[in-house]
Amino acid sequence: KIYPVILSGGSGSRLWPLSRAALPKQLLPLVSERTMLQETVLRVAGWPEIAPPLIVCGDDHRFLVAEQLRQIDSKPTAILLEAEGRNTAPAVAAAANYLLARDPDALMLVLPADHLIIDADAFHEAVLVAAHAVGKHALATFGILPSAAETGYGYIRRGAAIDRSETCFAVERFVEKPDLATAQAFLADERYSWNSGMFLFRADTYLAELERLQPEMAACSKAAVQDAYSDLSFCRLHEAAYAACPSQSIDFAVMEHTQQAIVIPADIGWSDIGSWSALSEMQDGNAQGNVLQGDVYADNVQNSLIRAESRFVSVIGLDNVVVVETRDAVLIVNKDQVQRVKNVVDFLKQKN
Ligand code: GDD
Ligand code: MG
Repeated sequence: KIYPVILSGGSGSRLWPLSRAALPKQLLPLVSERTMLQETVLRVAGWPEIAPPLIVCGDDHRFLVAEQLRQIDSKPTAILLEAEGRNTAPAVAAAANYLLARDPDALMLVLPADHLIIDADAFHEAVLVAAHAVGKHALATFGILPSAAETGYGYIRRGAAIDRSETCFAVERFVEKPDLATAQAFLADERYSWNSGMFLFRADTYLAELERLQPEMAACSKAAVQDAYSDLSFCRLHEAAYAACPSQSIDFAVMEHTQQAIVIPADIGWSDIGSWSALSEMQDGNAQGNVLQGDVYADNVQNSLIRAESRFVSVIGLDNVVVVETRDAVLIVNKDQVQRVKNVVDFLKQKN
C-alpha cells in the first residue's frame, strides 16, 4: 500500500495577509471551493493502491484539519501533531516511524499540502512508475520541466536512465534553492528539472538513509513517535523529543547528500502556489490582465491582482501590482518583489 503523507505544517508566509499563523494557506480555499489540504487528499483518494492519508500538522491546527477531512469523508490513517514544527525532514521521519510500526512494507508518498496539479491522471501514472522503480533502496523525486530561473525551488540533474522506456533516471546532483546565477545556468541545461517537493520511498529506506546522514534527527524523531500520546486519530509527538530534532528540510538534510535518489520526469500541470504572483498567474485575468476579487474598482490598471475582503478598494493608474485588503492588514506590493512578503511576517514577529 502507498500511504499519502501530507505535510501541512508550513505557515505560508509569502501569502500574507491572507495566510496567517492561525489559518495558513494549506487550510484555505485558494483555487477552488475546497481547501488546498482537501484538494491534496482528494487528488489521490480514489486510486486503488492508496491507503488513507497520514497528515503531519501543527497541534494548533488539529481541529481544523480533522474537520476539513470530515467534510470530504476522509478517514485518515492518523493525524500526527507537532507542538512545534521542525521543518520537513523530521516530519517525514515521524511519519515513517509511525507507519513502519504498523506496516513493515509501507510506501510513503510525501505530498506538500499546498500544490496545484492539473493533470491528476498523469500524476497517478508518475506515482506508479515511482512505486515500481524505488525497490528497497531508492528515494524517488518527481521532476518538473523548469520554465524560469526560480530560486525558491530545488534543482535535480538527471543521469542515466534506469529503465528501458526512460521513465526514470538516476539523480546526479540535487541543489536546493540555488542563487539566481546558478538557477539561470540550470535553466539553460536541459538535464535539470525542478524538484516538485513530492517524494516516494519505503518508510524503512528513508529512515535508514536518515540514520546514516542525520543520526541525531533520526534518533529524536524515533523517540518522539515511541513516546507519542495517541487518542482517536490524533497522535501527539512527544514534545521534548521532537523539539530536540535539528530543524531542517528533507531537501537539505537528505536529498542534497544521498546517492540513492532517482527522478521521474512528470508533466502533470504542477504549480506551487507559493507567492502572490504565482497565485495570480493561476487565474484568468480580464482584458487588462487584472484579477479582481471582491468589492473592487480599477481604473487604468494593468496586470494586477486586487483583492478586497472586507472593504471597498479602489486602485488607479498602477501596473504590475498586488493589492490585498483584509480586516486588519493591507498589502501593496510590486509583482516583481512578492518573494519579499515573508519579510513582513518576520518583521511582525519581531515587533510582537
Ligand atoms: N508538518 C510540517 N511541519 N509540515 C511542514 C513544516 C513543518 O515543520 N514545514 C513545512 N511544511 C510543509 C509545508 O506546509 C509545505 O506543504 C511543505 O511542507 C513544503 O514546505 P515549504 O516550506 O513550502 O518548502 P519550499 O516550497 O520552500 O521548498 C520545497 O518545495 C519546492 C517545491 O514547491 C522543496 O522541496 C523544494 O526543493 C521544492 O522545489
Ligand atoms: Mg512550498
